[in-house]
Amino acid sequence: MASFRNIAVLGGTGQVGRPIVKALIDADFTVTVVTRSSSLNPKELNGTIFVTSDYTYESLVKIFAGQDAVVSAVAAGPPIVAQKVMVDAACQAGVRRFIPSEYGSSSIDQPLEDFKKLMAPKTQLIGYLRAKCRLHPHFSWTCLSGGALFDVGIHSGAWGFSVSERTATIFDTGEARFDSTTIPTMAQGVVSVLKRPVDSANQYLLIRSFIVSQSEILADLEDITQSKWRVSYVNAENLRQEGWRLLAGGNPKKGIESIVRGALFQGQRDISVSQDILANTQLGLPTTNLRDYLESMV
Ligand SMILES: NC(=O)c1ccc[n+]([C@@H]2O[C@H](COP(=O)([O-])OP(=O)(O)OC[C@H]3O[C@@H](n4cnc5c(N)ncnc54)[C@H](OP(=O)(O)O)[C@@H]3O)[C@@H](O)[C@H]2O)c1
Repeated sequence: MASFRNIAVLGGTGQVGRPIVKALIDADFTVTVVTRSSSLNPKELNGTIFVTSDYTYESLVKIFAGQDAVVSAVAAGPPIVAQKVMVDAACQAGVRRFIPSEYGSSSIDQPLEDFKKLMAPKTQLIGYLRAKCRLHPHFSWTCLSGGALFDVGIHSGAWGFSVSERTATIFDTGEARFDSTTIPTMAQGVVSVLKRPVDSANQYLLIRSFIVSQSEILADLEDITQSKWRVSYVNAENLRQEGWRLLAGGNPKKGIESIVRGALFQGQRDISVSQDILANTQLGLPTTNLRDYLESMV
């Protein structure tokens, strides 16, 4: 398989997409960011071509002509389903690799029932990609999963930490452990996949920066800030159930956030995956130290 050069990125103006675009530019790919005409997100990033699309099949086929790969980083929710049209258009345009918008917890081998339900559209898209590859031998896919995205969890406050106020909301005991990946490592993962097209073809790749728990993060934050943080406690199961009620009541944003936190931080379970199935080495990803990374963030 010849190497890739021209990459189209959808959702490249978002919180995950933007760092991916930056990493691709830094790695000397020619990057075209496809953005909705209705988008209000900033459209400047040195070295990047921006094109608008109404995301119809015809518009995308035109834009994808001459692209070697399409990387999607579109938002969770309805845009995940809309990726089917992107896949159809990529096949038609002769694109050789499609990376769908995954980047989080595994959508094909998911230990948490709540996550399985929320991720059903992502799982279905992978089935769709597999079927397309059988019909179009030139076409291939790669998925990257990194557990919970570390920077998003910390910066958004979703993991219960407020650096400015030195407060922590701990769910249950704070001992639940899970895989987490930093956004720079995830972006580097996308670059590595596109630099190693043969190794990564038609694979669901798991990566991680570290295994974390809320307690470990809090201990490092207290050490870094040389202060004792004010801690309050929340029952994870109550939060999880409240999340499903909110979702059923028409509040998807708050509902999904509560379900994710309630399920991820529950009890003392460890849902991290075994080291030997990780693709970090295959992709040549650098190791990251939790404390050092946190220190660089705060
Ligand atoms: N596991 C985790 O912890 C975690 C955390 C965050 C995200 N993620 C995953 O990462 C991926 C990207 O998420 P994100 O948070 O970066 O998303 P985001 O910032 O909310 O949105 C990404 C981009 O999607 C495009 N978009 C928004 N609404 C759209 C619509 N209705 N139709 C088509 N495109 C639309 C926008 O691009 P334009 O405005 O340029 O069109 C936007 O910049 C998702 O798969 C998400 O599930 C995982």
